[in-house]
Amino acid sequence: MMSSTEHNYETKSYDVIVIGAGGAGLRAAIEASAQGASVALVTKSLLGKAHTVMAEGGMAAALGNLDAADGWVPHFKDSIRGGKYMNNWRMAQIHAEEAPERVKELELWGAVFDRTPDGRILQRAFGGHTYRRLAHVGDRTGLELIRTLQDKGIHSGIDVFMECTVTNLLEENGQVSGAFGYWRESGRFILFKGKSIVMASGGIGKAFEVTSNSWEYTGDGQAMAMAIGAELIDMEFLQFHPTGMVCPASVKGILVTEAVRGEGGKLTNALGERFMKNYDPERMELSTRDIVAKAIYAEVRDGRGSPNGGVFLDISHRGADYIKRKLPSMYHQFLELGDVDITKGPMEVGPTMHYTMGGIRVNPETQESPTVKGLFAAGECSGGMHGANRLGGNSLSDLIVFGRRAGLYAAEFAKQQTEMLPIDNEKVKGYAQALVEPFERKGTETPYPIHAELQHLMHTKVGIVREEKFLKEAIAELAVLRERAKKARVDGSRAYNPGWHLAHDLINMIDASEIVAKAALQREDSRGGHTRLDFNFSDDKVWRHRTSVASRATDGTLTVSYFDKPQMPKELVALFDKAEEKTAFETEGKF
Ligand code: FUM
Repeated sequence: MMSSTEHNYETKSYDVIVIGAGGAGLRAAIEASAQGASVALVTKSLLGKAHTVMAEGGMAAALGNLDAADGWVPHFKDSIRGGKYMNNWRMAQIHAEEAPERVKELELWGAVFDRTPDGRILQRAFGGHTYRRLAHVGDRTGLELIRTLQDKGIHSGIDVFMECTVTNLLEENGQVSGAFGYWRESGRFILFKGKSIVMASGGIGKAFEVTSNSWEYTGDGQAMAMAIGAELIDMEFLQFHPTGMVCPASVKGILVTEAVRGEGGKLTNALGERFMKNYDPERMELSTRDIVAKAIYAEVRDGRGSPNGGVFLDISHRGADYIKRKLPSMYHQFLELGDVDITKGPMEVGPTMHYTMGGIRVNPETQESPTVKGLFAAGECSGGMHGANRLGGNSLSDLIVFGRRAGLYAAEFAKQQTEMLPIDNEKVKGYAQALVEPFERKGTETPYPIHAELQHLMHTKVGIVREEKFLKEAIAELAVLRERAKKARVDGSRAYNPGWHLAHDLINMIDASEIVAKAALQREDSRGGHTRLDFNFSDDKVWRHRTSVASRATDGTLTVSYFDKPQMPKELVALFDKAEEKTAFETEGKF
């Protein structure tokens, strides 16, 4: 490995640079390393700390350990129906086919799953899944996934760069050449030269006021990839997880796992009604997330909410021993943060921004961007797999299935490159200058109030339900926030300075928010994670075939247009029956 110092930044060289160390990044890094590539795994957070841990209830894989009729076909069909037929069919197929193998591999690597009495991996029910499909570890599945991959990863010869923020990708003639960023602790700059790059940097949740996401989810990967010519698809589709904590205010948005409903939890409104009977009488609490979240929204809007603006979720009928064994984190979370004993009574819950279905456009087989050579993406920052709505548990399996593929093909790409592409030092100097600029500004704007205003704006005008008037207002207000963010001043030094970090992240969040708002305005349609009150009934024949695609010109101008989704081959179309298809949409008009 080469290491040197050039122009006030250190330089490192690797075959493959993986940006983000959640489940997708770790799995990609492990695979690339197994293929013989030298790998840098760069994370702005700490290793082991990622939103992956917020997929608590399990990973979906048709192992068929409890329900023998399960297999890749039912899993594929459930994912497509749940995604309102907007998924990239090939990604959904690969995911359903490969998830069981990837889960068994995790077991070999040391993941300690809950077990059936005869020793097989235990699986639980989750919304939208026809069979009990979620392999789990109590309500800490994401944590176990990260722990296992981290263990495997650090023994695979990967170099890990923690608390290191990547701010810019570099390219030469449409092919990646490296990444530039800084150490969060010292503020010193660092340049990574690389033959291929895997983006695995997660979602955009911190642009919203109420979110399950932690501080890392600021849309960095999406913004950086777009800046070098990648496209983003389906960005209007956001997942509001139906159950986040609603009180006390300091913990609003923290995830309450769907496993509570998977284990039999019942949702009721202020009148004591199990209101899901009015929205999805067949599946009730185990309807898909888009429907349950909108049902809760409607109950609160119509005056049937709980005292703190949510609804009630009760699992106490399962008994204290069962709850403490199957949902230990929920038990402690409510006791310690909310002073509520969930073995004795209900919790109050409400929707929380949880997941971005859209993301970087990739080739479904290789995860490579079709517009930037050597750029790969996996996990939440990529788009296509989940269509308009992700099924719970499909995220963890997505990370390991497509993380592996991204790592594999990124390593293959790197092998084909005989040498590193040259780095344009003038560009790098420009990036460094842009980063220090906030210290040189003299005005009164600072990043924190702008962030708070952005979160409020996105929550109120680009949130769970949308309308033309508010979307237009949001787009105009985002332009104002962008100008203010460009003037935001930062005091102090570059050594661990959270205000400085935010000054940069803020631009990425505004970029992502603008794309979501524009794509949402253009989609005159309601499906899954995009609900237009002014277009509750739309022409499915038109909209189901349109995938939105956002790109940025070199002057920063944003365009949102559409391409026709790839058609599913006839043999897969034949798996679906028309009556099932109708039920996927019948709730859309109820809001
Ligand atoms: O509710 C949950 O445990 C979250 C799972 C997921 O987002 O896949």
